[in-house]
Amino acid sequence: MNSGAATQHYLVRPASRVSGSITVPGDKSISHRALMLGGIANGSTEITGFLASEDCLATLRALRALGVQVDQHDAHHLTVHGRGTAALHAAGQALDMGNAGTAIRLFMGLLCGQSFDSTLIGDSSLMKRPMERVAAPLRQMGARIDTRDGRPPVIIHGGSRLHGIDYTLPIASAQVKSAVLLAALSAEGITRITEPAITRDHTERMLGGFGAQLQRDGLAVTLQGGQPLRGTAIQVPADFSSAAFFIVAGCLAAHEGLTLRNVGVNPTRTGLLDMLRLMGADIRIRPVVGEGPEPIADITVHAAKLRGIEVSEQLVSVAIDEFPVFFIAAAAADGETVVRGAGELRVKESDRLAVMADGLRAVGIQCELLPDGIRIRGGGMVGGHIDSHGDHRIAMSFTVASLCASGAIRIDDVANVATSFPGFPAIARSVGLQLQA
Ligand code: S3P
Repeated sequence: MNSGAATQHYLVRPASRVSGSITVPGDKSISHRALMLGGIANGSTEITGFLASEDCLATLRALRALGVQVDQHDAHHLTVHGRGTAALHAAGQALDMGNAGTAIRLFMGLLCGQSFDSTLIGDSSLMKRPMERVAAPLRQMGARIDTRDGRPPVIIHGGSRLHGIDYTLPIASAQVKSAVLLAALSAEGITRITEPAITRDHTERMLGGFGAQLQRDGLAVTLQGGQPLRGTAIQVPADFSSAAFFIVAGCLAAHEGLTLRNVGVNPTRTGLLDMLRLMGADIRIRPVVGEGPEPIADITVHAAKLRGIEVSEQLVSVAIDEFPVFFIAAAAADGETVVRGAGELRVKESDRLAVMADGLRAVGIQCELLPDGIRIRGGGMVGGHIDSHGDHRIAMSFTVASLCASGAIRIDDVANVATSFPGFPAIARSVGLQLQA
């Protein structure tokens, strides 16, 4: 997968305005979850607005290898024929999750209570990412899981009887929380999970849509094991994390406004809006009536003068994937922006603190890397050469930087943009970015 990753690049020439009305592709987190919960539900689940990106297609392939029939009517419309919580079958080969951290971690929770063994692997980036954060609570539930030095391959030994646990997450991670919730479905007794900070709650909302009963109490969620799921219909909203690139682009250069349609605005995801507004951004939200448990809105952004801020640590977990593009906003702002308490950014698809700091310096921005954050001094950006380290969000962030750079930006290793945002270059060009892929 993505064998051309090292060779593909973008060349982005300076542009001074963006405008229009666009719809970005479906939400990645919700698409993964819709497939997985649909696969273990009783009856069929209809998914519309599915994100047909490399990451979600890895989940789809894995689910089919586990015996789940999925009919694909078109790229974004699927019917999953659920097999019930305990009726998957052995894949007979290692399940390749590609670049997808969400897929590998949620599958650990889904598979550790099954009767058969499974092996989970991924691409060179995923093979370096930490998996013990998920394996540890699952072992407490009775699962038998091996990792190699804490990383994939992840080997899950089937046939374990799981039991509920009371677990306080040491780090704020929706993937860990979701993996434990998926395991809890087939565990005996009650599982209670407490998080140190709010993280995306798509799993909890979606479980409710599949008929499961959960109790939420502040930062804790409780689930009784043994509850069957009932197939349902899921409408996947446009991905806020993909919209984020254009929200920042709009703040920098939407002199007549830029609108993003039908975007998921679950408050556990939208910390970027709070941060940008504190910087002086002009962002208007118009709620759209949807059918599912996820709030949806049209977002209109107008260009505004931004000023640097000190980001509250409370916002980190609800803006976690948006920091690369937020750093571009910070680089374009007047004054200094400081982010702390964001050490998790070092274990994403790349070390996003270090890779962004290198990239910002390459386009003439002064910044200081902190152990768990970054200090960025806003200023004039010049053209430059960026190595995205195969990280989709770094590549797209520096595309947005072309709106405040005086010269062309070349971004290397961009093939992984397709893991989350197929069609990004065309949408970027449609609003006015001068991107040559
Ligand atoms: C995700 C959770 C976050 C996020 C990732 C998607 C999810 O990861 O960064 O892109 O779908 O649950 P962590 O749980 O590691 O913070």
